[in-house]
Amino acid sequence: METAKTGPIGVFDSGFGGLSILRDVRRVLPQYDYLFLGDNARAPYGTRSFQVVYEFTLQAVNYLFSQGCSLVILACNTASAKALRSIQQRDLPVSADPTRRVLGVIRPTVEHVGAVTRTGHIGVFGTPGTIASQSYDIEIAKMYPDYEVHGHACPMWVPLVENRESDGDGADYFVRKDIDALLAQDADIDTVILGCTHYPLLIDKIHRYMPGHVTIVQQGEIVAHSLADYLRRHPEMECRCSQGGSCRYLTTEDASRFGELASIFVREQVEAHHITL
Ligand code: DGL
Repeated sequence: METAKTGPIGVFDSGFGGLSILRDVRRVLPQYDYLFLGDNARAPYGTRSFQVVYEFTLQAVNYLFSQGCSLVILACNTASAKALRSIQQRDLPVSADPTRRVLGVIRPTVEHVGAVTRTGHIGVFGTPGTIASQSYDIEIAKMYPDYEVHGHACPMWVPLVENRESDGDGADYFVRKDIDALLAQDADIDTVILGCTHYPLLIDKIHRYMPGHVTIVQQGEIVAHSLADYLRRHPEMECRCSQGGSCRYLTTEDASRFGELASIFVREQVEAHHITL
């Protein structure tokens, strides 16, 4: 019998945000090999149309497949909101290897909030694209029809992170302004989802301005445990993920600039390679 080819688990984001997911995934599942791809040259995705986000995401996924990945995590809410369903339902079934899989970050996050909220009033921060797609509203309504969901787009947060301004005073201004705007929608919000993988990189400022009674939901650990559970339930995929504990980084922007910044986020030396999609 032919043994299935193994390869790293692919992790994709428009830029640096996916590193916040990768860090927790590697902590929970250190045994696997990983291949991270950041499309920094074309970030941010959050203000782009459905069609463009879908096309860019599909290119990235196909690139990761071509590098031997059988399983790809879209560590990006915008791509999960705008491209995941089409890739899963339309592209994968007719691809060269329909047994490959692509997973997103929205469903596992929504599954988690039920255990957190007491009031059932949920706030969601996201990119303009994620909020306009109403993906969180739709997924939460399927699982918890009685919950109230309030979304708020934070168009400045990703550029602050991508431009290394997350520690600056400008970040304080925008984080406070957006928190106030979200909470002004509904005084009963007790749980806020950080529905963009870049946002944990602003977590110190978010904690500074979020009232203490509100629980902040970050996705890294949730996605990591959901992936562990997925691999347990799908041994046919698990055996296609190579084990060696390695992690390689690819970027569509300048590799040394990416490596410098990524090293701060993942707290280890990152040597990145430039690719073109
Ligand atoms: N990190 C991505 C997300 O989770 C989006 C960043 C962007 O706008 O490119 O939505």
